[in-house]
Amino acid sequence: MRSAKDFFAPLAVGAPAPLRDVPARPSRMIHFFDPSNPKMAAKVPDLVGSVDVLLGNLEDAVKADNKEAARQGLVDIAKATDFGEHTQLWTRVNALDSPWVLDDLTTLVTEIGDKLDVIMVPKVQGAEDIHYIDRLLAQLEARAGLARPILVHAILETARGVANVEEICGASPRMQGISLGPADLAADRRMKTTRVGGGHPGYLVRQDPVDGDIDGARTTYQQDLWHYTIARMVDACAMHGIFPYYGPFGDIKDVVACEDQFRNAFLLGCVGAWSLHPVQIAIAKKVFSPSVGDVAHARRVKAAMGDGTGAVMLDGKMEDDASLKQCLVILELAERLSS
Ligand code: GLV
Ligand code: MG
Repeated sequence: MRSAKDFFAPLAVGAPAPLRDVPARPSRMIHFFDPSNPKMAAKVPDLVGSVDVLLGNLEDAVKADNKEAARQGLVDIAKATDFGEHTQLWTRVNALDSPWVLDDLTTLVTEIGDKLDVIMVPKVQGAEDIHYIDRLLAQLEARAGLARPILVHAILETARGVANVEEICGASPRMQGISLGPADLAADRRMKTTRVGGGHPGYLVRQDPVDGDIDGARTTYQQDLWHYTIARMVDACAMHGIFPYYGPFGDIKDVVACEDQFRNAFLLGCVGAWSLHPVQIAIAKKVFSPSVGDVAHARRVKAAMGDGTGAVMLDGKMEDDASLKQCLVILELAERLSS
């Protein structure tokens, strides 16, 4: 974990805020599959190499009667599959207050701990949940003789979790990142949307009346229901050097709105999103990779800024130490994705 000393250490001129030493493998799309569903399970080998993360889901969306089958299905798939260098294997275990989670963790770490990169933990409320997982994983890893620690990813989907997001991010050196869970979060907050992520046509602001005519035509602007939580999550993750993600977008057929929601999250600092259907894989890949134009611009600014200090004019716009740092974020991402 980064220490207080790191927060106050001066950054090298031009360097973006450092990531803690979490492995920075691409994770633009976390593609969910249900290991108890034979049709979905059969497709897993075809996705290896083309998706950044394959996640065997054991929690919500898996029927209570299928929990054991899903767990065993994931063990079988993991044992039979070589995930190669470009695809990580994650799982989402059941919630910490469920009757299944202890068996999920015990079985998975023991049987396929050498293949699992990250365990996603739902409905995390505070640092105590991460401490519990951390200790349990340490014991199970030691018993299984695993040399590489399994990382932990928390879903932010309760009001209490949002209130405690900073302490959750810093609760363990295992923390890899956090995803927004808009469906559970909406329910927990008693929000009045029934959608799984995305916008809502009722959440808008209306232009002021022109000349006091409240009956006249007025433009409305739809607002992003998730802006506050994503921004808060991004700040907490950046402070602790871990990765923020937008979560699920449930309206699979609305690929345009999905792309918009993913892009808002990307612009705010998220590194990826969940994909719930193959159609969302390409959307996430496109959105969470810097565009050719952005990379070219970042390279020009870097070249123009010489030693990285002072200010220059480029295409009529002022560039300086701070805008160079913004460009370095884009270049660092491009480099990470191409290596
Ligand atoms: C995801 O788990 C959500 O609740 O949105
Ligand atoms: Mg949820």
